[in-house]
Amino acid sequence: MHQNLETREQPYARLLARVRKHKFALPPIAPTTSRRLLILTSTDASVKELLTILQCDGALASRVLSVANSAIFNSMAPIASIRQAALRLGQATLRDLILQAVVESQFKCYVDDRLLDSCKLHAVAVAHLAKETCKLNGADPSRAFMCGLLHDIGTPVLVHALAKGGFDGPLPEAAHSAIHSAHTIAGEQVADLWNLPDVVADTIRLHHCVHGAIDTPRIPPEIAIVGAADRLAYHLDLGSRNLGSALFDDPTWEQVGLSIEDVQSLIAFSKRIPSAF
Ligand SMILES: [Fe+2]
Ligand SMILES: [Fe+2]
Repeated sequence: MHQNLETREQPYARLLARVRKHKFALPPIAPTTSRRLLILTSTDASVKELLTILQCDGALASRVLSVANSAIFNSMAPIASIRQAALRLGQATLRDLILQAVVESQFKCYVDDRLLDSCKLHAVAVAHLAKETCKLNGADPSRAFMCGLLHDIGTPVLVHALAKGGFDGPLPEAAHSAIHSAHTIAGEQVADLWNLPDVVADTIRLHHCVHGAIDTPRIPPEIAIVGAADRLAYHLDLGSRNLGSALFDDPTWEQVGLSIEDVQSLIAFSKRIPSAF
């Protein structure tokens, strides 16, 4: 029995050592998903292209409808079809929701692990908070959602890489800390592998540099907004990281031009973010 466990842990230990050294063997992406991501991360995806994606995938379409009918959109009457969703929400929001459903479905390919659950919740929360922040501070919202959704994509992909070592249940605590310290580097490699836009790769690389970095290095505003949404999500327990400071004492809000009233409005908004489960 003991020997069995040891045999089972050997590939995992080798993989963990590789993660610690930032030497990853990242899983390839399915060609269909790759084609979809190319359309969904483009700011000029047409409604026709979006509807074509949903026509080929019933599960994806019902997930999009479920989010479209969630409290976040304050819809008076239920949205019954994807065409109605396109009309009611507009092309950009429909694109964001399909992207959310596609990225969520990628998370499902990975193992069952509590790190993965909180990572999924966090990714969706940061995406919606980043887009809502743009409405409050007047920034261009067109890429905020995708950057928020994908900013920590290195984490689930590393969970997947470690799961290949034989773990299909909760990963040990040591793996969680190794994953956290490697997630931005792995995320940049994922951005490359998945052909994600440069702004997403930059967000992955820089999102933890926002806090306290008002002047140097200068963080582009659209990345700073995701960095702020990231911190707000953690302050609100939408993710598993303890920031160790009080929410309203965080200087990040001022850096991205948010007033205390704006932050309060984002906190109220966060309660309507649809669950990723
Ligand atoms: Fe991160
Ligand atoms: Fe994050």
